[in-house]
Amino acid sequence: MDLERLEVQFDGPVARIWLNRPQSRNAFDGLMVTELRKTLFDLRTVDGVRVVVLGGRGPSFCAGADLQWMRATASFSLEENLREAQALADLFFTVYESPKPVVARVHGAALGGGAGLVAACDIPVAALGTQFGFTEVRLGILPAVISPYVIAKIGESSARELFLTGERFESVRAQEIGLVRAAVPEADLDAAVEGRVQELLKAGPRAIAEAKALIREVAFRRVEDVQRYTVERIAEVRASPEGQEGMRAFLEKRKPYWVP
Ligand code: COA
Repeated sequence: MDLERLEVQFDGPVARIWLNRPQSRNAFDGLMVTELRKTLFDLRTVDGVRVVVLGGRGPSFCAGADLQWMRATASFSLEENLREAQALADLFFTVYESPKPVVARVHGAALGGGAGLVAACDIPVAALGTQFGFTEVRLGILPAVISPYVIAKIGESSARELFLTGERFESVRAQEIGLVRAAVPEADLDAAVEGRVQELLKAGPRAIAEAKALIREVAFRRVEDVQRYTVERIAEVRASPEGQEGMRAFLEKRKPYWVP
């Protein structure tokens, strides 16, 4: 697919996806939503790729949904309007459930849907001074489709404050509330991202996909309701080729085959 809104680089086991609409601070319109979703979806089956890094070209990571595009939905039929909102929801879900871990490289601003995109990623790393905010209510709209991912990361208490005020906040606070995992000087951002990537490359690729599925299934459920599921998962995975290789490598004091 020819990409107008993204740039994708392949770097050994790492795919780097850059939102590439800097003149609009990488605000996403219908085309960016389609391209990003399809790119992530296609990467699921690219064998050599084990980690995805998502960043933004230009001064900002992502200014959220394109407000021109959001405004235009007023002239849509209810059905079209729902279809567009569903496409957006599908994008966040594709990031969230990607079997390849997604590290976000966040700088400049991550607002509205841009902050939602951060929340849907596995390991967001931000430059100090990045502006975050769930600004939707200040625009008279709602952080609706992003809310499951954001609330999962920051909890109800922070969501009540930040969704209701729409106020902007910076990286240190974003780290304190769990929206990002690290806040580092901008000059160190690439090195910090690379550090996360290297840690991920030490893990079995299938084990990572299984661990992501496990978190999705177990989070927010009663232990009694998920215990059988967890028993079945470990029983299968420890007998799998990757599980066998990982444990054998440890016992033989060598690296498993997936470690570069
Ligand atoms: N949708 C559409 N266009 C957007 C946009 C958005 N979400 N965010 C920024 N832009 C556009 C601006 O309108 C401007 O266009 P112009 O050059 O034609 O005037 C261009 O991007 C640059 O924006 P500007 O504000 O001049 O850049 P900045 O670097 O000073 O600030 C932001 C960047 C992201 C901090 C600022 O643009 C902003 O606060 N945007 C609103 C973000 C928001 O609330 N998003 C929530 C959406 S749900």
